[in-house]
Amino acid sequence: MFSLSSPPFQLLCCLIVLFILPLPSRSADPDPLQDFCVADLNSSVSVNGFPCKPAEQVVSDDFFFDGLRKEGNTSNIFGATVTSANVFTFAGLNTLGLSTNRVDFAPGGINPPHSHPRASETGVVIVGKLLVGFVTGDNVFHSKVLSPGEMFVIPRGLVHFQLNVGEGKALAFTSFNSHFPGVVISSTSLFGSTPSIPNAVLTKAFQVGDDVINGIRSKFGS
Ligand SMILES: *[C@@H]1O[C@H](CO)[C@@H](O)[C@H](O)[C@H]1NC(C)=O
Ligand SMILES: *[C@@H]1O[C@H](CO)[C@@H](O)[C@H](O)[C@H]1NC(C)=O
Repeated sequence: MFSLSSPPFQLLCCLIVLFILPLPSRSADPDPLQDFCVADLNSSVSVNGFPCKPAEQVVSDDFFFDGLRKEGNTSNIFGATVTSANVFTFAGLNTLGLSTNRVDFAPGGINPPHSHPRASETGVVIVGKLLVGFVTGDNVFHSKVLSPGEMFVIPRGLVHFQLNVGEGKALAFTSFNSHFPGVVISSTSLFGSTPSIPNAVLTKAFQVGDDVINGIRSKFGS
């Protein structure tokens, strides 16, 4: 037997504490192990992220991106469009745990309820007035109308939206702690998947008849 203050007991406590402490969960994507790793999007090697372009082929342009300059085309059913600067469009972001979207809204346009499986999000309104809202895991709805210069944050994975409630167009920029946050749009993932989710699932889940489900499906091409 050893006492509570004996070295073996203290060592045992240390080991137990180390193993039960939660692993750090503040960052979404893993930290980079080198200064940069400009993505080689053509590589056939499959890793968590993309392989790095050989350093001698890296050029300054790999670290700059002008794809967010242009206003997006909002002629779609939602009246809003997202233009993404993520690792697929801006290879310099590879492994850095960062990306940015530009979101353009026609009057009345909505970035419909959706979630990002791999990132928390911050956003800043540049033009117009947006109603921004999200629902927590406890089903609490948080929302606010934001004007230019005002910001929001959406915790990782929670369903959220932005609705243009101003008179004219609106514009926001959003940032993510992932080089590819991913997106799951609630309406299109439930009613526009390929192949379709069976009606038996959706009628029961939403407590409505086939007619309602088929009506919604028809809007999302499924
Ligand atoms: C991928 O291949 C295309 C065509 O061969 C080339 O133009 C492009 O620069 C390559 N991209 C990268 C990131 O190496
Ligand atoms: C915007 O998208 C719509 C629908 O796809 C298309 O008909 C229209 O030509 C586009 N407008 C511009 C300016 O590209």
